[in-house]
Amino acid sequence: MVKPSDLEDQLLVIKDLWITIDDEPLLKGLNLSIKKGKIHALMGPNGAGKSTLAKVLAGDPTYKIPQGSIFFLGQDLLKMEIEERAHLGLFVGFQYPVEIPGVSNFHFLQSALNARRKGLGAEPLSEDAFSLFLEKKLKQMEMKGEFKMRGLNSGFSGGEKKRNEILQMAVLDPTLAVLDETDSGLDIDAMRIVASGVNQQMSKEKGLLLITHYQRLLNYIEPDFIHVMIEGKIVKSGDKKLADLLEEKGYDWLEKSKAEISI
Ligand SMILES: Nc1ncnc2c1ncn2[C@@H]1O[C@H](COP(=O)(O)OP(=O)(O)OP(=O)(O)O)[C@@H](O)[C@H]1O
Ligand SMILES: [Mg+2]
Repeated sequence: MVKPSDLEDQLLVIKDLWITIDDEPLLKGLNLSIKKGKIHALMGPNGAGKSTLAKVLAGDPTYKIPQGSIFFLGQDLLKMEIEERAHLGLFVGFQYPVEIPGVSNFHFLQSALNARRKGLGAEPLSEDAFSLFLEKKLKQMEMKGEFKMRGLNSGFSGGEKKRNEILQMAVLDPTLAVLDETDSGLDIDAMRIVASGVNQQMSKEKGLLLITHYQRLLNYIEPDFIHVMIEGKIVKSGDKKLADLLEEKGYDWLEKSKAEISI
């Protein structure tokens, strides 16, 4: 059971989370808490369940949740609709961002921001006001003006899609952002720009969960904690030094030590 005292200063509290698809467990009793002001990195081999966690947080209905709880800002996330999660300040940047050719980046972002503002009790931004605001954010992400009116992610290169995810994040100003492999497909300059966009977003009231395979991103966005997920569970947590250790030894080392423990 989650006690009210467990939720103090916590943005996200996940307890004993089990996720299944066709009765096949993908997450097997995952625990993770993210406090205000903290950056957590989630690493782990292919197929460990990292993106599954991101999708479940976003509210993907494909997944069944037979057991466990998720609290976001002290509220039961599993009872919330997808939109409610976003309005409350949760942002999930996907490993494979969707393309919606018929909806411009501008209109998608304007309606998403105005929905978030509504949730916060603020007036919606007019087209003109939003246009100026978006131009500023595009500049910050060093993105060309043409991306404003292009279909959402439509025909964007892999790196452009990832940069666009961070543009969305910069526009929505979420309290907790979950970024799934934002670094994949980024060239060195784009990585620096994306990282600086993310770092500018962080504050002592916000949190970040960075899913990544590479220690390289963590040189730009410095995590307070690193977790390793293997087979649907976090098997090891530590500070930044853990990423160096993983770079050197791979995940085999953790899987082996796990096997030794279970003997
Ligand atoms: N909709 C689905 N239907 C069937 N299996 C699924 C579905 N979603 C995820 N899985 C399975 O769950 C496991 C975890 O997948 P997930 O995408 O979460 O891994 P990951 O840790 O993000 O891996 P990667 O590092 O390769 O991105 C995989 O074996 C995957 O095939
Ligand atoms: Mg993934």
